[in-house]
Amino acid sequence: MSATPEDNEFDVVVIGGGPGGYATALYGAAAGLRMAVVERNKVGGTCLHRGCVPAKEFLETASVARTVAGAKEFGVQAGQPAIDFAVSQGRKQKVVDQLWKGLAGLMQGRGIVTFEGSGTLLPERRVEVLGPEGATEISGRHVVIASGSVPRTIPGFEVDGRLVMTSDEVLALESLPASVAVIGGGAIGCEFASMFSDLGSQVTVLEALPSLLPGCDADVVNVVGRSFRKRGIAVHTGVAVTGHSPGGTGTTVTFGEGESVTVDAVVVSVGRRPATDGVVAAGTGVEVDPRGFVVVDPYQRTGVEGVWAVGDVVDTPQLAHVGFAEGIVAVKGILGEPVVPVDYAKVPWCIYCHPEVAFAGVTEAQASAAGIDIVVKKDPFGGNSRARIVGETDGMVKVIAERRPDGSAGRILGVHMVGPWVTEQLGQAYLAVNWEATVDEVGQFVQPHPTLSEAFGETVLALTGRGLHVG
Ligand code: NAI
Repeated sequence: MSATPEDNEFDVVVIGGGPGGYATALYGAAAGLRMAVVERNKVGGTCLHRGCVPAKEFLETASVARTVAGAKEFGVQAGQPAIDFAVSQGRKQKVVDQLWKGLAGLMQGRGIVTFEGSGTLLPERRVEVLGPEGATEISGRHVVIASGSVPRTIPGFEVDGRLVMTSDEVLALESLPASVAVIGGGAIGCEFASMFSDLGSQVTVLEALPSLLPGCDADVVNVVGRSFRKRGIAVHTGVAVTGHSPGGTGTTVTFGEGESVTVDAVVVSVGRRPATDGVVAAGTGVEVDPRGFVVVDPYQRTGVEGVWAVGDVVDTPQLAHVGFAEGIVAVKGILGEPVVPVDYAKVPWCIYCHPEVAFAGVTEAQASAAGIDIVVKKDPFGGNSRARIVGETDGMVKVIAERRPDGSAGRILGVHMVGPWVTEQLGQAYLAVNWEATVDEVGQFVQPHPTLSEAFGETVLALTGRGLHVG
């Protein structure tokens, strides 16, 4: 049966099938809209194929290696672990492929039509799809741009996939370099530094700003920095990287005041830039800022009626779950339903290095910069039974509450966690911050014991002025 013109007309055409795009498509289809997705690679995008999922899978390999290395302490004789990275790579790919097939099946089951190729927005909400079989044109009553982001690089560090890599190449490695310099100590840099170190590589982190993980609460950063140094990771902060000179099988990276380190490989993790090249044709009226971000309002609307943008292509936190949330906001707007925009200051952040980091809401530094009077309590995991049981006592939970005029703690404004499995513990803290709950309200709830997650309840109870274990 040949395609009719109606086959290429949709309620919504989504350009890009990563988390922002596929969430838009799934949510729209669940609401009864006829949805199309244009994707040049595989649906799932950076998160599933070159980002969050494969990185966390390798970090799990690192965690297994740590557990085996520490097994003796529990009376389990396992010997020193040896890493067969090709097996880890194979397992990672299996996990990714299973999730990819699941997602593709889910989209197909919801009646979402996926076009293979590169999408370009044309005027009048038409989209050209340049695929393996040539060009097709489709159109939507609405178009959502969700073309994502790509790793940034720095001058003098040409990515060759061997000596110089970005996250794209690291996640496809077949064997581990014996030594690595990680340029950029943000989320990706810390996750890779932690992973390589746990798998036996010698790691050096070179960060331009004065501390690792800029934007995270200082107490949290201190715990991560201490743990990294204890594990032999060399951390240099406040240093400019000046270049590298290949030689032998590796390369020598120069930084700071004439310092250098010779390594087998360099990982550049200095942020990601929006992928807008070729996505918006001239004459559409959609504004793209000088850094390449599509400009949107808090409702994900570009300045052009019926054209929206979500995910890493807009200048908001580059997190898969923020892309999901923005996709939902866009679809509700398309449906004409009441919409609450994403509150970016309170989204959850989870960084999966060891020890893990998780937070939502203001940091202590942000609160004081904003002139907010606060009360702060911290509960170190060293006093938590489950943390002692699992043998992971580095870290703490820190809760920041607004100070009421009478001096007591009121609304919970920020929660910052660092330590074992905190990425899985953030849920109740995230709800407390976003529900604008007070310490008295949250302090009433019963926390299961012994758990790691009761540390949050303990800290909040302490903020009511009457803690059990935390003073
Ligand atoms: P980032 O923006 O988090 O960190 C980049 C770091 O590189 C910053 O600390 C910056 O000061 C430093 N930097 C920049 N230029 C430099 C230079 N020339 N020399 C030395 N240091 C330099 O970006 P990252 O880590 O690449 O991640 C990209 C995006 O992906 C971020 O938005 C991040 O939040 C997101 N992401 C989130 C994860 C998570 O939540 N678990 C994991 C991985 C990425």
